[in-house]
Amino acid sequence: MTITTCIFDAYGTLFDVSAAARNAAGEPGQTALAAVWEALAEDWRRKQLEYSWLRAITGDHVSFWQVTQDGLDWAMERHGLADPELRERLLALYWELAAYREVPALLARLKAAGKRCAILSNGSPDMLEGAVDSAGLGLYLDAVLSVEEAGVFKPARAVYDLVGARFGTDPGEVLFVSSNGWDAAGAAAYGFATVWVNRAGLPTDRLPARPQHILTDLTSIPELL
Ligand code: LAC
Repeated sequence: MTITTCIFDAYGTLFDVSAAARNAAGEPGQTALAAVWEALAEDWRRKQLEYSWLRAITGDHVSFWQVTQDGLDWAMERHGLADPELRERLLALYWELAAYREVPALLARLKAAGKRCAILSNGSPDMLEGAVDSAGLGLYLDAVLSVEEAGVFKPARAVYDLVGARFGTDPGEVLFVSSNGWDAAGAAAYGFATVWVNRAGLPTDRLPARPQHILTDLTSIPELL
């Protein structure tokens, strides 16, 4: 089936989630953070995602902004960073994460090829609006879909349903792109053509469905269409 619609995960796929800790670590007076920022960023992301999955399982949904704060609090405590001002700074930077460098040109190529492009993310609508605006990606996107419309986090099928609900597409005409192996597996199981952007060179997740394509960044996606 011809691909008409390219759907992108946001955090880790279009936006560099480690940029908040990396950028804060480079600011004056942040020597404690500078010593641990990579481990902090990894723990922050891992706990943010764990909390999203656990809340999806137990039905205790909150916004992604809440699990982002909860994950940061866990990670800061683990790394001995009891600093409310640093907490506020890291959270503020999360609203203006840089896009990976290949993203604007890729989206421009897809639009020029007549493809619909949209985000489907766990992020809350206001977080996503902040990130899209600060990275200047709004002009390439036909929609920014948030799990808040479904009231549950990925990889619940109700989230992937939002694509067809918005665009009237069959799953087979959608190319879903995510750097999160578990998200790519969920989307593949749903029936989307799927790209896993394996930026970190990780093993494939042992989940029921496998992504059709594995890339190291987003650049060559137009060649798959
Ligand atoms: C998202 C998370 C999973 O943007 O990265 O949905």
